[in-house]
Amino acid sequence: MRAYRAQQFIRPDLQAHIFSQDLLNNVRKLKGLCPDKTKFCAVIKANAYGHGISEIVNILMQANVDMFAVATFYEALHIHTITQQQSIFILEPLNPSQSIEEIQVCAQKGFHCVLASLDSLKYVQEAVKNTSSALKVHLNIETGMGRCGIPPELARQLLEQITDCTTLELAGIYTHFATADEEDLSYAYEQHSNFEHFLDQHNLKNKNLLIHAANSAATIKMPQAHYDMVRCGISMYGYYSRQMKNPPVRLTPVMKLTAPITQIKTIPAGHSVSYGQSYTTQRDTIAAIIPLGYADGYRRCFSNTAKMKIGDQAIPVIGRVCMDQVILDVTDIADIQLGKMVTVLDNDHDSPCSAYALADIADTICYEILTFIHAHVNRIVH
Ligand SMILES: Cc1ncc(COP(=O)(O)O)c(C=O)c1O
Repeated sequence: MRAYRAQQFIRPDLQAHIFSQDLLNNVRKLKGLCPDKTKFCAVIKANAYGHGISEIVNILMQANVDMFAVATFYEALHIHTITQQQSIFILEPLNPSQSIEEIQVCAQKGFHCVLASLDSLKYVQEAVKNTSSALKVHLNIETGMGRCGIPPELARQLLEQITDCTTLELAGIYTHFATADEEDLSYAYEQHSNFEHFLDQHNLKNKNLLIHAANSAATIKMPQAHYDMVRCGISMYGYYSRQMKNPPVRLTPVMKLTAPITQIKTIPAGHSVSYGQSYTTQRDTIAAIIPLGYADGYRRCFSNTAKMKIGDQAIPVIGRVCMDQVILDVTDIADIQLGKMVTVLDNDHDSPCSAYALADIADTICYEILTFIHAHVNRIVH
């Protein structure tokens, strides 16, 4: 099998504090929105949205999560070694770029996999023809997402062929919403009705299949899409896919990122700061250097705009964010000391350095801010 290497080192000075109780409470609240029978699938791809996959899986073992969803086979293998839990769902569709051995391991370990084309089906059938356990597959039905789902007319053929193949087990049918996070849900409703139509047409309900559709936004806003299981990522970590004014559940961010001040210096008035001279001091400025930068996930576009926090005080980033250093203007902060920890990413939605605030600056979504946090940042579980 292809080599699989874990991250080899960590940076103890860059500290991502992970608050277990907040994660567990978020999961409890999300589950509370669903009927008792609805299973909960925790989406932990992309290093658990930047929170640290091993740490998050270890905490979630106390949360009665029914399934873990990952993007790739290698993430599945990794968490299988932690949980030994069979219910791991690999979202990337099976495809011929994977080795035969990979697909056989999926069958052997009981991973739930996605089938998304007739070509892949042929490859997969060949791969599992002699396996002792059937490979569990889910069909992703294209209802409007326009990504890797199968158009309903092809899905019919796949359904027939899977049923005829003894080494494949049809375990689930699902779809994915493109706009459930938007205020206008009309397109999401249309997708839901396309999915319903498909399920009815093929008489797939009440057939011992796992039917699922809802991501976090649909879990919160579309009860009609809960079906047998919801797949929550971002909201488990404490965020709405996009900021909501009056959310029906209060979620708390699970991670707070801090870093120490490693140098304090005075930069005279009229002096430029950092690469490109994009900032010039207007006064004698006390500057603090923080040892993180875009190589750690702190984006370069935060230059001259983002804020960090010391205690309750917001402190501006001045000059360009470098690969592994950021400069702050701490002139107005009393009692500044080397080694003092600065909040880089806050676990408070209203903070000037919340993931939403940083996402606004970067013209992106909170998902990207979180997933950019490098794996070498030390995750400290509380
Ligand atoms: C198929 C699928 N389901 C669920 C999710 C979780 O989405 P969210 O983080 O918005 O809950 C994702 C994330 O991208 C996904 O690709």
